[in-house]
Amino acid sequence: MTSAAIRQQFLEFFKEKQHTIVPSAPIVIKNDPTLLFTNAGMNQFKDYFLGNKVPTHRRVADTQKCLRVSGKHNDLEEVGVDTYHHTMFEMLGNWSFGDYFKKEAIAWSWELLTKIFKINPEQIYVTVFEGDASEGLPFDQEAYDEWRKWVVEDHILKGNKKDNFWEMGDTGPCGPCSEIHMDCRSEGERRQTSGAALVNADHPQVIEIWNNVFMQFNRGKDGRLSPLPEKHVDTGMGFERLVRVLQNKTSNYDTDVFTGTLKVISELTGKDYGASDNRKDIAFRVLADHIRAIAFSIADGQLPSNTGAGYVIRRILRRAVRYYYSYLDYKTPLLYKLLPVIAGQFEGVFPELHQQQDFVTKVIKEEEEAFLRTLEKGLKKIEELIAAAKAKSEQTLDGTQAFELYDTFGFPIDLTRLIASENGLSVDEKGFTHEMQQQKSRSRAATALDTEDWITVYPTQKTSFAGYEDLLVPTKVVKYRKVKSKNKEQYQLVLEQTPFYAESGGQVGDTGVLIFGEEQIAVTDTKKENGEFIHFVQKLPAVIEGEVVAKVDAERRLHTAYNHTATHLLHAALKQVLGTHVNQKGSLVSPDILRFDVSHFAKITDEELQQVESIVNAKIRENIEVNIQELPKEEALKMGAMALFGEKYGDLVRVVTVDPEFSIELCGGTHVPRTGMIGLMTITAESAVAAGVRRIEALTGGAAIRYFADKVRQNKAVADLLKTNAPLKAIEKLLEEKSQLESKLASLEAKEVSSLAAKLKNSVTIVNGIHFIGAEVEVSNADNLKKLAFALKAELSDYVIVLVAAIQGKASVVIIADPALNGNKSLDLNAGQLIKKTVAPIIKGGGGGSKDLATAGGQDASNLDQVIGAVRKAIG
Ligand code: ALA
Repeated sequence: MTSAAIRQQFLEFFKEKQHTIVPSAPIVIKNDPTLLFTNAGMNQFKDYFLGNKVPTHRRVADTQKCLRVSGKHNDLEEVGVDTYHHTMFEMLGNWSFGDYFKKEAIAWSWELLTKIFKINPEQIYVTVFEGDASEGLPFDQEAYDEWRKWVVEDHILKGNKKDNFWEMGDTGPCGPCSEIHMDCRSEGERRQTSGAALVNADHPQVIEIWNNVFMQFNRGKDGRLSPLPEKHVDTGMGFERLVRVLQNKTSNYDTDVFTGTLKVISELTGKDYGASDNRKDIAFRVLADHIRAIAFSIADGQLPSNTGAGYVIRRILRRAVRYYYSYLDYKTPLLYKLLPVIAGQFEGVFPELHQQQDFVTKVIKEEEEAFLRTLEKGLKKIEELIAAAKAKSEQTLDGTQAFELYDTFGFPIDLTRLIASENGLSVDEKGFTHEMQQQKSRSRAATALDTEDWITVYPTQKTSFAGYEDLLVPTKVVKYRKVKSKNKEQYQLVLEQTPFYAESGGQVGDTGVLIFGEEQIAVTDTKKENGEFIHFVQKLPAVIEGEVVAKVDAERRLHTAYNHTATHLLHAALKQVLGTHVNQKGSLVSPDILRFDVSHFAKITDEELQQVESIVNAKIRENIEVNIQELPKEEALKMGAMALFGEKYGDLVRVVTVDPEFSIELCGGTHVPRTGMIGLMTITAESAVAAGVRRIEALTGGAAIRYFADKVRQNKAVADLLKTNAPLKAIEKLLEEKSQLESKLASLEAKEVSSLAAKLKNSVTIVNGIHFIGAEVEVSNADNLKKLAFALKAELSDYVIVLVAAIQGKASVVIIADPALNGNKSLDLNAGQLIKKTVAPIIKGGGGGSKDLATAGGQDASNLDQVIGAVRKAIG
């Protein structure tokens, strides 16, 4: 059975049990501060478990892209070394939100594995939670009893809190769980030793494939468990492991999930997988695994970077590069070449990669190139460090050095750790962390914000935003606090109801005033924090209690709306002109300008920009009504809305439509009611911001009109200056004339220099055995004076030449001496010193140079003969 068929069977099975099949959430998590990446199928349903939201369906199943490389669940170090851990993997899951519980979950997993997939029951072991006194949790008798209906007694094992109590992270929903393990050893081996002892003992052939979690608790920030409002089921089956079992392989990498990629790696590198070179095999597996994590994360909107989730992706990519570089002897970018096979393989399951293949390829390639540039130097450095440590019989690599490798050579700590361990050394992690923290606190000190505790004025549970409809709202201050940054002090206020839009989705926060009776306080910015709208003010009112009228700067909001709606038009026009690979990578919508970053791998040409601009302006002139609705995400996507990242299954989203044929976007921002109000849009700049990302800047409304008016005025000024109606032609002609004149001048000057040189050659006198020329000449610039001196010296030895000239009333001097002079003769002439000490005062100026060549310039050209005299005197 192919892996695709296995996935399909799983979903079909649960569909028949009345489950709704939903799509995978993005692998990158944007709006949960406790997680960087999706690490389990249940993440997107967290709010249903916690009772924060009501699910639209009580039974759901899917296959979810997961990544376990940071935080509580981190398998990175195992990946590639063994044959059954992965960075990215697919988790097949079925869920009950307050619907069925242990009985059905257990019966169905047994049915699917043994009846549909026809796995031999003798190879299956299950575990149940033994209880934990410290948490006050009992043995899971119910799960045990349910299993006993299907499984013989000695195949049901008890497990402790570590293995049988599942938690999403340090906080969040959790509960006792029941794991299903497969004993994949041969029949002979199985008969010899029971698999029971090998469960959860890191045996490569006795592996967990499925986990059934019975969600009953929430772990709070204080570490305490509190019961959830309802009981839920959350299951997760490792897809790659299941395929391995059903395809009867001993390694996940021998299944059709990975063999296609391994084959391409083999073709590219000319090396063979499975040819009994362990290091090479690990490298093969690392590449086949890591490319999936890297590619899908980028496709889901996470570019490699230096912080947070972006840095995790960068680390994984660098780990892969180092493996092919060191063990497959491949020294140029390789990972990006694996994209076609992966994108093709997953086109029917996760189409997002195929849709953005060009973009993802480009980003990976550039990232590989950048790291390969420093990798060699870094590897040399670490080799030296390892050799030095070994010479001193040390067991660890110094933390400061590990930090230098990180800071200068881009070696993530796990890469340094890996190379060190390959050489039998460990890394001084504490030292590294210390250095890292010091660097962080240095940069934090530069931007530190010091916030005091909130002071409650008017206790309330709920605050709300009224700013889509109203720009002026009577309300109350709920709480405030003082904030200090560097030497500035300000305050932050939360209002019960606010018309102020808080910065998000690229749109800047509103400004305006808070009117407390007679007193008006300016709001300088509005931002969101934990869902609350924070208003920034410079001072507090005399009386903060009672009613306050919150009033947004309407003019500024309107200009911001021009730019926001124009951003949507721009996005749609870019897709039309450049292609559908173009996706939003960031934006800034302010009252003054709009800035829009898109994925595109070449400079956007002037013609393309003109096309985009004219499409947008045509849509503005059509004066289309901007339609805004709130819909479930799925309906919005069906309408064809451009999906932005971070929304989850079932979320209500705000859909902004400007002509359903043209632009439909999910967006929380504020817009104009009709496009005609934007007036005009003009693109003012196009540039590169990161690998594969271009930035467009544009103006709208009055700002765009002023921009054009300015250009017209400038044009007119130029035309007036040139006294012509066709300034462009006139300038072209001027430039041509200029270059002709320049070349004429250059040849005249060359003539001037050579005729002067011919004359002066005869003026050589011998002073103290030295060929001396001292002369005042007429040249047009200081450069020619120097050229003349060089022309003279070319035919002389043992020379000292001093040339002076009055150029436009100012003195210019050059002294040049035979470098051999200082060695051969007793004379100790230093042209540079002579110029500084003697010549500069005579000409009231300054200068300098080396022993052999020095120049000077000065205000006073009346004593140039004195300069010649002084030099002559210096040589005797
Ligand atoms: N959430 C459970 C797990 O990830 C199913 O193992």
